[in-house]
Amino acid sequence: MQPDLIRVALQADEPSIRELFERSGMVEIVESAPEVLVWHLPPDSDGLPAELRAALADPHGPGIVALTDDHPSRWFEEAMHLGVDDVLCLPQTPQSLGMAAAKARASRARRAAALSARVVQSTSRAGREAHAFTVFSTKGGSGKTVIATNLAVCFARQGLRTLLVDLDLHSGDDALVLGLSPRWTVLDLVQSPGDLDAEKLAGFVTRHSSGVDLLPAPTRPDEEELVAIDRLEPLLEVARRSYDAVVIDTSSSFSPSTLLAIDHTDTLILVGASDVPTIKSLKIALETLDLLEMALPDMRILMNRSGAKVGLEDRDVERTLRREITYTLPSDRAIPISVNRGQPVVVDNPKSRVARSFLEIAQSLHGAVESRQ
Ligand SMILES: Nc1ncnc2c1ncn2[C@@H]1O[C@H](COP(=O)(O)OP(=O)(O)OP(=O)(O)O)[C@@H](O)[C@H]1O
Ligand SMILES: [Mg+2]
Repeated sequence: MQPDLIRVALQADEPSIRELFERSGMVEIVESAPEVLVWHLPPDSDGLPAELRAALADPHGPGIVALTDDHPSRWFEEAMHLGVDDVLCLPQTPQSLGMAAAKARASRARRAAALSARVVQSTSRAGREAHAFTVFSTKGGSGKTVIATNLAVCFARQGLRTLLVDLDLHSGDDALVLGLSPRWTVLDLVQSPGDLDAEKLAGFVTRHSSGVDLLPAPTRPDEEELVAIDRLEPLLEVARRSYDAVVIDTSSSFSPSTLLAIDHTDTLILVGASDVPTIKSLKIALETLDLLEMALPDMRILMNRSGAKVGLEDRDVERTLRREITYTLPSDRAIPISVNRGQPVVVDNPKSRVARSFLEIAQSLHGAVESRQ
């Protein structure tokens, strides 16, 4: 065996393809422990075969090159989304096949390095638990996602190892708001075989440039019901052992995943707004939390789009809710602009009024994290 040859396995051992790879002079065809796995797929296949999807979901798996006989129509997008390293239309020269194998091996090495860096990081905080923040509101569009993503980025910038978990399993869009195209979602993680531990979690998160690790919601709404709730519980426990701060974004209902998140929460951030339907919904949410008798150590009310002159003052709201408003966040067009750019506003426009408010809120919440360390 020559040490610098790329160890390639062919999923279907076709002599013509084997010969092309061998003629590249860069590849050794192997039966086991490949660095690169080559699949030959028909262009009109309805989707990727289950075995290939499983190989792609394994963070320790080989690099993957897909070959096809014509421009693939149906599976190409799925392949790219799931992280196939290269898709090549035949015929190809031996040289280009060799180069594709080299590229796939390099991608695999980069993934392995990123994974082990995260594992070292997460196992170095043995015995300590993250502070878990859940951002919730029973009103859709109230700003939960904007708030969860920006707070997570502020925490990461404060030096906290931060995980953002998107538990809006039906239509979570944290990845979109952070401008990320994750390879895996929470569904891949809970469906992966074997025990869930810090190492496995590290392999399924996607890192944002701010340092935040994101565990995104499933890609499609119909995948919500495939996420087994009994697998989410150990996931949150492992997450808390691996990070300093865990921020959980939720849907607008007391769904099983929301209840689980609240159950594992140290600080619940309830999002409100100065309009009558939202205040009514916030009051019902507070009553529901009371009825559920969930042991909530810390609950804070954050009024979003505060200060807009709409005839409802913060003190009117406090009187109705019989609770103090903890934080306010102004209405600011810098937010939709940043959302459309796929950047949190604290990165996109740090001088804006709303970005400064986020920073102040995160600093105040940081106190809660420090008191646990
Ligand atoms: N303070 C603000 N100023 C201006 N626009 C805002 C503000 N907060 C949120 N928005 C806008 O409101 C919209 C909804 O925000 P977001 O997606 O965060 O709400 P959500 O509660 O997560 O919604 P959903 O219930 O659908 O998940 C976004 O397009 C965002 O740009
Ligand atoms: Mg949302």
